[in-house]
Amino acid sequence: MDMTFTEAPLGGQAYDQYGHPYPEFTQKVCRAADAVLLGAVGGPQYDNLDRPLRPERGLLGIRKDLGLFANLRPAVLYPELANASTLKPEVVAGLDIMIVRELTGDVYFGQPRGMRVNEEGEREGFNTMVYSESEVRRIAHVAFQIAMKRQKKLCSVDKANVLETTEFWKEIVIDVASEYPEVELSHMYVDNAAMQLIRNPKQFDVMVTGNIFGDILSDEASMLTGSIGMLASASLNETKKGLYEPSHGSAPDIAGKNLANPIATVLSAAMMLRYTFDNEAAAQRIENAIKKVLAAGYRTGDIYEEGMKRVSCSEMGDQIVAAM
Ligand code: NAD
Ligand code: IPM
Ligand code: MN
Repeated sequence: MDMTFTEAPLGGQAYDQYGHPYPEFTQKVCRAADAVLLGAVGGPQYDNLDRPLRPERGLLGIRKDLGLFANLRPAVLYPELANASTLKPEVVAGLDIMIVRELTGDVYFGQPRGMRVNEEGEREGFNTMVYSESEVRRIAHVAFQIAMKRQKKLCSVDKANVLETTEFWKEIVIDVASEYPEVELSHMYVDNAAMQLIRNPKQFDVMVTGNIFGDILSDEASMLTGSIGMLASASLNETKKGLYEPSHGSAPDIAGKNLANPIATVLSAAMMLRYTFDNEAAAQRIENAIKKVLAAGYRTGDIYEEGMKRVSCSEMGDQIVAAM
């Protein structure tokens, strides 16, 4: 398959080069592309910038700009890593959960937001958790359609017992469910869902939730697969265009040491081939190469266990390429 690659900076690198975390140059390149493959943004050296200039705003900016409302985060355990999880192997063996996280709404984008002095003269910070009906409907449809292709079980995660926004979410999801009678829909409060993911994760097939709950639950679910370094993601809109990125951040504590696990990024490229380019064979070729490399005992530090072959980030990448 012939592909043309164009590089464009985002986040801190873009700020350094262009003075903005999602500069016009990058906007043009990404708008024109069929797909975007993204590394990760952020770093302590940028944490004191004005908020609109911070790397994270670049990431939120590109998601919003490209309308990428559906974030798919597959938490799949490779059998070879059953012992790498901090949970007992029998709890995670065979794990295959798809987390569908709404990505362009919720408290991440709700207005008003900011910091102010309140009527009592005290400083306070505030954000707005809000979801419109159309936003909930479209992500619910995505989740039901994914469930239809899997085990036909969908769990919608909310905090409807406290928050009106998510009570509304639940109401809309129930309404959309009438179009998917074959899917078994359940509802769970987010605190319970966090607990159930550790207690018995295999009860889940597809989970759908809002932006902030999905952010937190997906990091939690990543540990069921052995490491955050295994969790890929696809961010999609109504077209075939997508952004593909690992779910983890820039890992500043190990940056520059050639220690990071590249598999989440490589698996994100496989998702890109699958969802944007409809090239299932190429996606599977990558996934099979990763299986082979894990079966051969190669491990980066985050998934290392005794007796295995400890490799650097670049060595892991080389092994995957060789296995292909
Ligand atoms: P993080 O995901 O960067 O790191 C959390 C922990 O996981 C660290 O100990 C890190 O070393 C480890 N880790 C992460 N990825 C790894 C990998 N591939 N291999 C091995 N270990 C890995 O989260 P954080 O420390 O909370 O945030 C660091 C920075 O990244 C912040 O600036 C944050 O805003 C940003 N961030 C960006 C994204 C993104 O670009 N999508 C996601 C999360 C955080
Ligand atoms: C993620 C990250 C981002 C998010 C941050 C860096 C803006 O944590 O992709 O999960 O919260 O969405
Ligand atoms: Mn996150």
